Amino acid sequence: MSENDGITETLEGSTRLLVPQDSLLMPAPPHDPAFYNPRARLNRDISVVACAAFARKFDGDALVLESHAGLGARGIRIANEVEQINHVILNDLNPGALDLATRSAKLNSCEDAVQTSRDEACRFLSKHAKQGLRGLLVDVDPFGSPSKYIDCAIRACAHGGILSMTATDLQVLNGVFSSACSRRYGGVPIRRTPHSDETALRLILGCMRTVAARMDATIAPLFCEADMHYYRVYATVLNKTDTAENLGIIYHCAECGRRGTSGSAVRCECGAAPGIAGPLWTGRIFDPEFAESAASECASHAVSPACAKLMRRAHAESAMPACYYTLDEVASRARASPPRLERMLGILEGAGYSASPTSLDTSGFRTSATMPEILAALA
Ligand SMILES: C[S@@+](CC[C@H](N)C(=O)[O-])C[C@H]1O[C@@H](n2cnc3c(N)ncnc32)[C@H](O)[C@@H]1O
Ligand SMILES: [Zn+2]
Repeated sequence: MSENDGITETLEGSTRLLVPQDSLLMPAPPHDPAFYNPRARLNRDISVVACAAFARKFDGDALVLESHAGLGARGIRIANEVEQINHVILNDLNPGALDLATRSAKLNSCEDAVQTSRDEACRFLSKHAKQGLRGLLVDVDPFGSPSKYIDCAIRACAHGGILSMTATDLQVLNGVFSSACSRRYGGVPIRRTPHSDETALRLILGCMRTVAARMDATIAPLFCEADMHYYRVYATVLNKTDTAENLGIIYHCAECGRRGTSGSAVRCECGAAPGIAGPLWTGRIFDPEFAESAASECASHAVSPACAKLMRRAHAESAMPACYYTLDEVASRARASPPRLERMLGILEGAGYSASPTSLDTSGFRTSATMPEILAALA
C-alpha cells in the first residue's frame, strides 16, 4: 500500500481490511474503486457469529460462497475470525475490489483460505450448483434487490446450509413503489405501518419460500435484521418439499390498530376493512436455537455488544405473535406520553398477556394482546 493510492487500512472485528479512504470519510460510500460501508459493520459482525455458531455443528470443510463480495470485508472476516472455516470464495465483478480482497487476505495471513472469482453473480452461483461444490454458507449482498439471485443462490446452497441475503430497495419494500414490489417479491406491503420492517422482511422470505418450493426445496428462517439502510435475512435451505402453510397475508386495521397474519383476507373485528400486505411469509422468522448459539459466540469474537443484545431479543421474540407494536403508536392512541419499554412489558404480563421486546425496533414489542386490549391494560 503506498501512502497516496487512496487506500487505507481499517480494523473490523479482529481483521485488518484495506479500503478506499473515501469510504471512511463520505456519508455515502463511493462505489469506486471498490465499495466498503463501515456502517454495515454490525451486519458483518452478525455474519461472523452466525457462521461460527453454524460451523461448530459441522465436521469437515464448510465452504462459504459470497456472490457480491466487494473488497471482501465479510468473507475475509469469516476466514480470519471463524476458526472452523478454511475455505471462502469471494466473487465480485469489480477487479479492483478483488485486488484489495487478495491484499487484505495476505495482511491477515489467511490467503490460503481465501479464493477470488470474477463472474456475474448468477453465473458464479450456478457454477456451484453441483454436489461437492455447493456452499454451506451462501451470502448474497447486492446493491438493491436480491430477488433476481434467489434461484441460483438456493441451487448453490448445500442441504442444511444457510442462505443470507441483503435487500437495500427499502422504498420498494415499504410500499412507495408497490407495483415494483409485486414484480420483484411477488407480494405487496401496506404503506406506513409501525411494523413495516417486519412486513418487508416477510416479503423477502415469502419470495424465497415461493422460489424454493418450485425446486422442491424448503427454507427455514433463522434470523432477520432491519436497519435504516438495509434488510437482511438468514434461512436454512433444505432439500425437501415444503408442505407447511407458511404463506399468507398481514392485515393491519388503521381504525383500531388490530394486526396479525392470516391465510387469507379478513375483515377486522371492529368492522373496518384492514390494509392487506402479501402474499408473504407468515411462519416463524427467528429460530430460538440459532439465536442462542449465535449469542453465545459473541463473547469469543470481536463483535459489537449490540450483536449479543439483538440475539437475546430474537430469542425472546421467536415464539411471539407476528406484527409488533411500538410505544409511540400506543402513546398516540392512548393520548399519553409513551411508557418505558420495560414498564409496558410488565403491564401486559401483569394483565395476563405474553409480551417481549423485538430485535427489529428498539421501541417495539410483541404481545398476545390486541391494540384495544393494550389500551385497556394501560388505562
Ligand atoms: C453492497 S456491495 C457488497 C458489499 C460486501 N458484501 C461487504 O460486506 O462489504 C455490492 C457488490 O456487488 C458487486 N456487483 C454488482 N453487480 C454484480 C453482479 N451482477 N455480479 C457480481 N458482482 C456484482 C459490486 O461490484 C459491489 O462490490
Ligand atoms: Zn379494526
